[in-house]
Amino acid sequence: MYWSRLFIPTLREDPAEAEVASHRLLLRAGYIRQLAAGIYNYLYLAQRSMLKITQIVREEMDAIGGQEMYLPALNPAEVWQESGRWDLMGDNMFRLKDRFGRQLCLGMTHEEIVTTIARGELRSYKQLPQIWYQIQTKFRDEPRPKSGLLRVRQFIMKDSYSFDLAPAGLDAAYDKHHAAYCRIFDRCGLEYVVVEAHSGAMGGSQSHEFMVVSDAGEDFVVSGKNYAANLEKAVSVAKAPAAADPEGDLSPEEFHTPGQKTIADLCAFTKLPETSQMKSLVMMADGKPVLAVLRGDHSLSETKFASATGAAEIRPAHPEEIREWMGADAGSLGPVGVTRMRVLIDEALRGRCNLICGANKTDYHLRHVTPGEDFKGEFFDLRQVAEGDTSVVDGGALSVHKTVEIGHIFKLGYKYSESMGLRVLNETGEEITPIMGSYGIGIERILAAAVELYHDKDGMVLPASIAPFAVVVTPVNANDEGQRKAAQEIYDACKAAGIDALFDDRDERPGVKFKDSELIGIPYRITIGKKLPQGVVEVVERRTKVSTDVAVKDAASFVSDRLASSAR
Ligand SMILES: Nc1ncnc2c1ncn2[C@@H]1O[C@H](COP(=O)(O)OP(=O)(O)O)[C@@H](O)[C@H]1O
Ligand SMILES: [Mg+2]
Repeated sequence: MYWSRLFIPTLREDPAEAEVASHRLLLRAGYIRQLAAGIYNYLYLAQRSMLKITQIVREEMDAIGGQEMYLPALNPAEVWQESGRWDLMGDNMFRLKDRFGRQLCLGMTHEEIVTTIARGELRSYKQLPQIWYQIQTKFRDEPRPKSGLLRVRQFIMKDSYSFDLAPAGLDAAYDKHHAAYCRIFDRCGLEYVVVEAHSGAMGGSQSHEFMVVSDAGEDFVVSGKNYAANLEKAVSVAKAPAAADPEGDLSPEEFHTPGQKTIADLCAFTKLPETSQMKSLVMMADGKPVLAVLRGDHSLSETKFASATGAAEIRPAHPEEIREWMGADAGSLGPVGVTRMRVLIDEALRGRCNLICGANKTDYHLRHVTPGEDFKGEFFDLRQVAEGDTSVVDGGALSVHKTVEIGHIFKLGYKYSESMGLRVLNETGEEITPIMGSYGIGIERILAAAVELYHDKDGMVLPASIAPFAVVVTPVNANDEGQRKAAQEIYDACKAAGIDALFDDRDERPGVKFKDSELIGIPYRITIGKKLPQGVVEVVERRTKVSTDVAVKDAASFVSDRLASSAR
């Protein structure tokens, strides 16, 4: 490809709207342009990169026996109503009507669709197991589309589905996907961690996420030497690091706290630390209010709360509900005197005394309160794991990191096969329900996460396997006949060696050409310049900026060797 004929609209300045590095650089380097919130045009460079990513994904899915299909993005409502997800997906689902007034939606994922295919066609145990996959566009009306390609409303997903006769078969399909995902992300050059995940709205029993540690992410991962889990699911030793009790006479006393609503407000007002405060949260568990009481510096883990209450659906109570049940607003709530609902007390409050909590009277709090004495409740481990907590696996310290989720695998179990009536006959002629798995990878996320991981002040530093080009051949002066001729020879040699090469034939100053190639993140540049009369060119590695003098005739094979040794 000849750069002078390509559409690569690089920008001099950082775009103001971009907060995270990948968003900023993908715009600046001319990979993408926004069409609307969370909807992007993928220009030439992004598309080249994404095609390389999808090819890696496809090869690894084929290698575990996956069969590629292509399913419609436009789905009839009935199929989603059968599984119950038409309602469950709420505002995240794009919905529309056809000319006859029939309800349709744009697919967010395809469990329902593959299950309809399977139930219509699979009859016998002899047809199982199956692994079906596709690389296709998904639509999700995300509440906060942001960060460029990291969270968009239209994106490309590789989604696959497994069907097996028995749980052992599902375990095998799951393990195959786990291994294939590791190979995919390794080949894409990403550093990632695999963590235990919460199965959430998908239902099912086991789930792992593939995460790239990055401040641009929106997920949190808890990790220790022998443990890694999504914060939503993470556990730690229930006992919190000890905290000292405030002075006091153990008899609760009301005091006026005008305008003091948050834990931080109260710390400043009472001159006592967060560990001397209690926070009281009114939650709705399957429609019933439950009060959760935690230490001021702790947060509620909704997952632990859900398992403590046994509720299927939980949410924070709305302000009107809080007022109705507690007689006060959210800034002044407390557990003392609460009898109309279950009270759950976090383990970190066991044995503490003389603490502060809301008085259920707006602008008043209580001090000298002792959990278990001045109010009763059931003790549970309710708090979200925090930095420095103790691992249940090995007693080591845990840390918390922000991450980007690039892949997710689930054991679905029987949720869809059961609800949508997928049955096959087993060896003895009895009807049985197959067991399913579901596995997703975000294609844009791989590109964006790679940029987050690998960039410097001059631009992207993409792994060669997913960079839009592997090498750029740059004559310093495109009008110099000799340089141009040597560059053409090297470019042709690169192509002949199977290297994805770009020829920067633009009539631009060398500084501009170097800057652009650094910005778009091409792993190697072969510069043809003033050493040409000695038969020498420079090969510059983007990552290290180290330059090596190489003979003209060896340039292509030098880059080829480098690429081969950098591929994992
Ligand atoms: N809004 C989005 N924008 C880009 N990629 C996404 C988005 N939502 C999901 N993905 C990608 O698709 C994969 C599978 O999605 P899934 O686990 O169903 O999504 P989520 O965890 O957001 O509910 C994710 O691991 C991620 O790589
Ligand atoms: Mg997920």
